[in-house]
Amino acid sequence: MIQSESDNRNDIRRVAVLASGRGSNFEALCRGDTGPGRVTLLISDRPEAPVLKRASDLGVEALYMYPGSYRTRFGLDEEKQWADLMIDRGIGLVCLAGLMRILKGPVLETFTGRIMNIHPSLLPSFPGLNSQRQALDYGVKVSGCTVHYVDSGTDTGPVILQRTVPVKDDDTEDSLAARILKQEHIAYSEAVKLYCSGVLSADERRILKKEK
Ligand code: GAR
Repeated sequence: MIQSESDNRNDIRRVAVLASGRGSNFEALCRGDTGPGRVTLLISDRPEAPVLKRASDLGVEALYMYPGSYRTRFGLDEEKQWADLMIDRGIGLVCLAGLMRILKGPVLETFTGRIMNIHPSLLPSFPGLNSQRQALDYGVKVSGCTVHYVDSGTDTGPVILQRTVPVKDDDTEDSLAARILKQEHIAYSEAVKLYCSGVLSADERRILKKEK
């Protein structure tokens, strides 16, 4: 049967994950309770990223796509190719899961309001890199993770949900990161479930859960 274009466009339940590395959040999204949402595509900007094998093992379409020659962002043409591929696959929600590259152009424009990121701190504290190190250096007693919509800033988009963890006196960067990561896996699936169930709404910056 030939799938018509409209069948394959903007399906709120079709989720793409963009990732650069290990892929534990990707796998948590594949295995977790995401309600009607299904991860149908994984794209990585690094050909050697372990997440590519995880995706193949889980039977999810897994692609390495060249991101351009910049180190921390996409080339304009390349970002357009990523956007076009996701349009072609009928993606309705884009989840960044350890994508170590900033979106500035066509993906952001094409999927405005339909891109989420997971970050290992309670934003707006400790954005950017090495968030667990930043939390330890600052001396906070509570940290956690944030799922947020992506805008053109770095970790600045509206917060969808957050989960907290204690920071212990003997924590190292690794022990704190591991405690936060467990909460990331729970939080990301929950956020995708809320989105794909159509119950999220926005009031200015505040993301609310509609009563059904
Ligand atoms: C996660 O801790 C995620 O929060 C972080 O990268 C890790 C990816 O792990 N993302 C960022 O720091 C983005 N600013 P994973 O590859 O096992 O999902």
